[in-house]
Amino acid sequence: MTKNLVIAIDGYSSCGKSTLAKALAKKLGFIYVDSGAMYRAVTLYFLRNNVDISNDDAVADALQHIELNFHSRDYESHITLNGEEVSDEIRLMPVSENVSEVSAHKIVRHEMVKQQQRMGKSKNIVMDGRDIGTTVFPDAPLKFFMTADPKIRAERRFKELESKGNNETTLEDVFENLAHRDYADTTRKESPLVRAEDAVILDNTDLTQDEQLAFALERVEPLLVH
Ligand code: DC
Repeated sequence: MTKNLVIAIDGYSSCGKSTLAKALAKKLGFIYVDSGAMYRAVTLYFLRNNVDISNDDAVADALQHIELNFHSRDYESHITLNGEEVSDEIRLMPVSENVSEVSAHKIVRHEMVKQQQRMGKSKNIVMDGRDIGTTVFPDAPLKFFMTADPKIRAERRFKELESKGNNETTLEDVFENLAHRDYADTTRKESPLVRAEDAVILDNTDLTQDEQLAFALERVEPLLVH
């Protein structure tokens, strides 16, 4: 096997990046890293501690007090914030409503990118996010850019929330939140969501999970040394 292979998966919110990334990691025996979970966990810390996002010193100081760790169980990525498991809480609306603002912050991005690059230094990883193929690992040998119909994406995220017992958020709330995050992610100054020139586009509106995995594996195969 090639040493230290990084597969980058970028794309819009809720278009199946993590599902594909997890399936790929499982199939290949790679480590899966959910970079969005890192921005979400930072957002949760900022909310809990009333960090003033407009104050750069406060942001920089808060980041010094945040330790994030991933624990992979059954290829599900669990994240801890200063030792506390926050994997479920970071998916709820208070975090979703504030994460775009936090993840647009230059100091926050700088710190997260540094940590993400460290993770990819010595291990085979599949990392998903918004800037993995453009900023975090611009030299990754394989990059995917995922997209899907916005309505389908909202329905998928709504079902995911429902399955976790959330019945306060409506489908319309989810749709609006996604539209807002798409806009914020693609128009922000720092590392906006944009397709890397060498990324393979994967529109999964009409594809099953198995079909997406097959599509991706076909492109991974030539990179593996048997
Ligand atoms: O993938 P997600 O929806 O959990 O990501 C949450 C937010 O974090 C999303 O609105 C954009 C931001 N994000 C980012 O700016 N860069 C990344 N690499 C991953 C996520």
